[in-house]
Amino acid sequence: MNLFIMGLPGAGKGTQAEMIVRDYGVVHVSTGDMFRAAMKEGTPMGLAAKTYIDKGELVPDEVTDGIVKERLAAADIRAHGFLLDGYPRNFHQAEKLDEILSALTMKLDAVINIDVNPEILVARISGRFICRKCGATYHKIFKKPLKDYTCDVCGACDFYQRADDVPETVENRIEINQKESAPVLKYYVAKSLVKTVEGSTTIEQTTSEVKAALDVLK
Ligand code: AP5
Ligand code: MG
Ligand code: ZN
Repeated sequence: MNLFIMGLPGAGKGTQAEMIVRDYGVVHVSTGDMFRAAMKEGTPMGLAAKTYIDKGELVPDEVTDGIVKERLAAADIRAHGFLLDGYPRNFHQAEKLDEILSALTMKLDAVINIDVNPEILVARISGRFICRKCGATYHKIFKKPLKDYTCDVCGACDFYQRADDVPETVENRIEINQKESAPVLKYYVAKSLVKTVEGSTTIEQTTSEVKAALDVLK
């Protein structure tokens, strides 16, 4: 299966992606995660991306298109399928993705759109913390680790908060995404690929809606 999960910042893309990757065996391709890995390594691409990410702006298309094109061409994607998270994020990227997939003789099977009330996003994002070792995502109220200060997935006790999760940047991320994602959604609705799930409820409720949408594709 080849999937794309979309939704505003804090909608729960990464959270639902953890379940989808585990239960459906597809490869998680998150442009945000790829940029954060590059920033951590201090590569020239990472340093360039940081100037945009820290302001909550989109990284220029030529950079983002390039890393997605390279990643989707890898053998593990051909073998297992993919779950794109955070790409395409504007109309140009949606058209570009079609071009990339067509060159690789692949196609998208479905777009999962997490619909969420924008008013709850700041609380979601400000409470988020992430395992430094394995990347599992938690929330100080909505998704606490089973054992305090210990990652459920890998057992590590080292967490961090994202540098772009400060209030000023979050507001800008939400605003830009609202504007840029509308034409992307329209693009995929016209292709009858969209499965919209309710993202303002609990994590478990959203997960069961995502599973119902994906199980008909299997
Ligand atoms: P990216 O990393 O993609 O960030 P984002 O889109 O802002 O989305 P988030 O990762 O913040 O939210 P999420 O939907 O994954 O939520 P999560 O599951 O963690 O991109 C970062 C930056 O990189 C961009 O701003 C841009 O600069 C750049 N970039 C990336 N892609 C790009 C592209 N294509 N083009 C150009 N630039 C690009 O959940 C959030 C929190 O809420 C967690 O704590 C979670 O535990 C909790 N939670 C989740 N679901 C629920 C629920 N149902 N109820 C209660 N709590 C919940
Ligand atoms: Mg995410
Ligand atoms: Zn971990």
